[in-house]
Amino acid sequence: MTKPPERPRYAALTGLGSHVPPRTVTNDDLAELLATTDEWITTRTGIKTRHWAEPGTATSDLALEAAARALRSARLPAEPGTVDAVILATTTPDQPCPATAPQIAARLGLGHCAAYDIAAVCSGFLYALAAAAGQIAAGQARRILVIGAETYSTILNPGDRTTAVIFGDGAGAVVLEATADRDQPGVLRAFDLGSDGTHYELITVPAGGSRQRTTPGEPNPDSHYFAMDGRQVFTQAVTRMADSCRTVLDRLGWPVEQVDHLVGHQANLRILTALARDLGIPLQRAAVHLDRVGNTSAASIPLALDDAHRRGALTPGDTVLLTAFGGGLTWGSAALLWPSVSPP
Ligand code: UT7
Repeated sequence: MTKPPERPRYAALTGLGSHVPPRTVTNDDLAELLATTDEWITTRTGIKTRHWAEPGTATSDLALEAAARALRSARLPAEPGTVDAVILATTTPDQPCPATAPQIAARLGLGHCAAYDIAAVCSGFLYALAAAAGQIAAGQARRILVIGAETYSTILNPGDRTTAVIFGDGAGAVVLEATADRDQPGVLRAFDLGSDGTHYELITVPAGGSRQRTTPGEPNPDSHYFAMDGRQVFTQAVTRMADSCRTVLDRLGWPVEQVDHLVGHQANLRILTALARDLGIPLQRAAVHLDRVGNTSAASIPLALDDAHRRGALTPGDTVLLTAFGGGLTWGSAALLWPSVSPP
């Protein structure tokens, strides 16, 4: 653990990486297994393909690749002392106990740093960024690896067309480093986080926790699968993300016209379109990655960021607004000026 800061510390993004498993699943592939069509999935969601891990691949395997790339992009060695913490946002940990982050830290060779998981479903990466920025501001850490990683293919009900066509697997990671310069590009300038647990039942995996253990011979075998009331979630998603974005912009005093890139949770193209319209941001400024990877939950924001970065869409100094919404219900937003980030 490093000494407490003598000057205020801000958390700046200095590295970025992502990884998806090689297996691509098209809408036509799914139409052979379920009562669905490429036309329905495309028009209702905007998704064309997603990646599903091969059986035996766990969330930590995907997270490891993304994290190694983020470290390389930050020009940092994977060795003890490089980072003070590893934070993993995920809904699909390798197992319910222990957390998956310590295993990732160990497999990367990062030594005995702090390591923990955050569970905020699709908002998890924003929650993890806020936790990391807070640790850095408090002087408890000078460098943190933040990862969002999921293997939703392991919790999807293969017979449920309302969810099986939407979600994909993948991982994205960033390195955050302490700086005393608030105006340095990459500094996470403002956050907004929120939740409304009265709607917890809209997105659930009912079994596997203390309320309903998973036991052999479970009366309802579907209860350990992911379930979502998509229509209800849709309405909430647009309103919550739009309000959360406005809160962040108000905190910064940034007019909405100043937003160069809206990187929203990649749940549905119709949600992203409605969100951009609600905020008054042209749709061309919204990152769209879901057509190729589907909804990757906690991995969605860093995957979309890395895709935009690799395509050269992000210019250093551009204003970037991040926003996510998911089960819990939870939501979160943050803003930064895009830094000069190296490829991994
Ligand atoms: O990531 C966390 C946050 N999650 C989200 O933000 C997801 C938000 N929700 C959504 O993106 C959309 O609600 C969905 C994509 C999940 C569903 O789209 P929708 O336009 O809301 O469809 P719906 O649930 O209202 O269903 C319309 C019809 C239904 O048939 P009936 O009742 O009208 O006869 C469904 O049974 O479409 C049917 N349907 C399908 N048909 C073909 C549902 N899934 C499918 C499917 N293929 N895969």
